[in-house]
Amino acid sequence: MEVIVAEHAGFCFGVTKAVETVYDQIKNGKDTNIYTYGPIIHNEIVVGDLEKKGVKVINSIDELDDVKSGTIVIRSHGVTKEVHQKIVETGLNIIDATCPFVKRIHKIVDEESKAGKSIIVVGSANHPEVEGIVSYARGPVFVVDSPKEAENFSQDRELEYTLVSQTTFNKNKFQETVEIFENNGYNINIVNTICNATDERQSEAEEIATKVDAMIVIGGAHSSNSRKLYDICSQKCEQTYFIQTLEDLHFNTNHDIKLVGITAGASTPKNIIEEVQNYVRTNF
Ligand code: F3S
Repeated sequence: MEVIVAEHAGFCFGVTKAVETVYDQIKNGKDTNIYTYGPIIHNEIVVGDLEKKGVKVINSIDELDDVKSGTIVIRSHGVTKEVHQKIVETGLNIIDATCPFVKRIHKIVDEESKAGKSIIVVGSANHPEVEGIVSYARGPVFVVDSPKEAENFSQDRELEYTLVSQTTFNKNKFQETVEIFENNGYNINIVNTICNATDERQSEAEEIATKVDAMIVIGGAHSSNSRKLYDICSQKCEQTYFIQTLEDLHFNTNHDIKLVGITAGASTPKNIIEEVQNYVRTNF
């Protein structure tokens, strides 16, 4: 079987930095109490490996009450202002691995809302990255997660708005959403904050999906950027499979599959991509 593997599959720069930061902490051995705020990435294998090495995951702001000393790594999604403040108060040594692309959005939201603009965030309201972005608004802030929600948006048209996006939002849907706001007469300053890594990954996945007989998207079950890749690919290729590991792969053999495309979300380690690729090449 012929296989095309996306060049931009797997760990992005922000995730690589966050994961390496945690492994570096383990290696330097200065602090044996190492925590991450939330799983460092949406990948059970990596998180499990870190756990075996003694890294503990803090899952909520309340759990911080039980932590008395140690080092905490903030993952690439970032955290809310409130969580950041609480971490500072606990006196933990903070290593902030928030991706610079996410930090840039915090800054835009902070400055624009300080200047009196209402904020619109295009993204999933309950995603940790979006929760973090929303927390930087000093005034009205709205989250819109689809063109349909943009259509139903009915706030004051006299206000000035600044619109930003979750870094991993589907770029086609973002465009559609923005056009709806504009057509509906809102006064909006649009800042497309979809990060380069996401843009490249989605464009390449879409291109590959249009020419293959089957497309495989590898990603964690809770990884929203992987889900979005799946949505994009399945629009172009009916035989699109979303898998976490090789064990999940079950091709529908009723179809004639000669060419397979593979892409992967930002939290998929290279070795899983290699494993899937080798398996498909040699077994079909
Ligand atoms: Fe950063 Fe984009 Fe990755 S925002 S964490 S480089 S997906």
